[in-house]
Amino acid sequence: MNSNPIGIFDSGVGGTSIWKEIHALLPQENTLYLADSANAPYGPKGKDAIIDLSIKNTEYLINKNCKLIVVACNTATTNAIDFLRNTYQMPFIGIEPAIKPAALQTQTHAVGILATRGTLTSALFSKTSGLFASNIKVIEQHGDGIVELIEAGKLFSEEMRSLLEVYLKPMLDANIDYLVLGCTHYPYLMPLLLELLPNHVKIIDSGEAVARQTKAILEKHDLLNSGFTKSKNEFFTNGDPKVMQSLLGGKFKVDYLAF
Ligand code: SIN
Repeated sequence: MNSNPIGIFDSGVGGTSIWKEIHALLPQENTLYLADSANAPYGPKGKDAIIDLSIKNTEYLINKNCKLIVVACNTATTNAIDFLRNTYQMPFIGIEPAIKPAALQTQTHAVGILATRGTLTSALFSKTSGLFASNIKVIEQHGDGIVELIEAGKLFSEEMRSLLEVYLKPMLDANIDYLVLGCTHYPYLMPLLLELLPNHVKIIDSGEAVARQTKAILEKHDLLNSGFTKSKNEFFTNGDPKVMQSLLGGKFKVDYLAF
C-alpha cells in the first residue's frame, strides 16, 4: 500500500476532466493537481518549450513525493512524455487522442479530430494516426482559441459557439460519424458540441481509458492506496483559482501557487 499522491499536471484547467475520471475510479487515492494556467496554452509552443514546462511541472510533483504522474495534457504528452520517461525513474501516464477506437468503429470511414496545433503536428500523433487510421479519412482541425476561452472562464460564450461552428463545418461536410476530442480541455465543450452536432455523430475522449490505465499501472507497481480514510485532493494553479473552482463544481478548494 502506498498513500503518496498521484500527481497530475496540465497546461491549465482542462486536465480536471481527467482528474474527475481518476477520482471516480480510484476514490481512495490522494491526488495533487497542478494547473500551469500562467503558461497556457501549450498548443502553439514549440517542442523544446513544452519539454521545459513539463520538466518544471514534473519536478514540482516529484518534490511533493508523488508516486506516479499523469500528464493530463495531450500537447505535453505528444511532445514531452518520451523525454520525461527517459529522465525520471517513476511511472508516467500520458494522454493521446483516441483515434484508434474511432477508426475501428466508423461506418462512414470519416472521423474528425479536434486538437491543438502542438498535438496534431507532433511525431507521436502522426505515428498513431498512420498506424490506426491510414485507411479512413481523418479531418484534422486545430482548435486555436478554444483553450484560451476556457481558461478565461468563457466556456459558453458566443465566441466559443462561433469558433466551434467554423471548426466543425469541414468535418460535417466530410460526413464524419466520430469526433475525437484530442485536448483535455475539450470535454468541457460537451454540452455545446451536443447542440451543434447531428445525433449520429459520436464524441470520444480519452478520460476513462486514462483512469483505467492509471489503475493498471498502480497495480503493476504495487502502488495502490488501499487505505479506507477519506482521500486528500489538492489543487494548485498559477492562474485564477475561480475558473478551476467552477469547473470542479465548487466542491474543492483551489489555491493560487506561483510556480
Ligand atoms: C493547450 O495547452 O494548448 C492544450 C492542452 C492539451 O493539449 O490538452
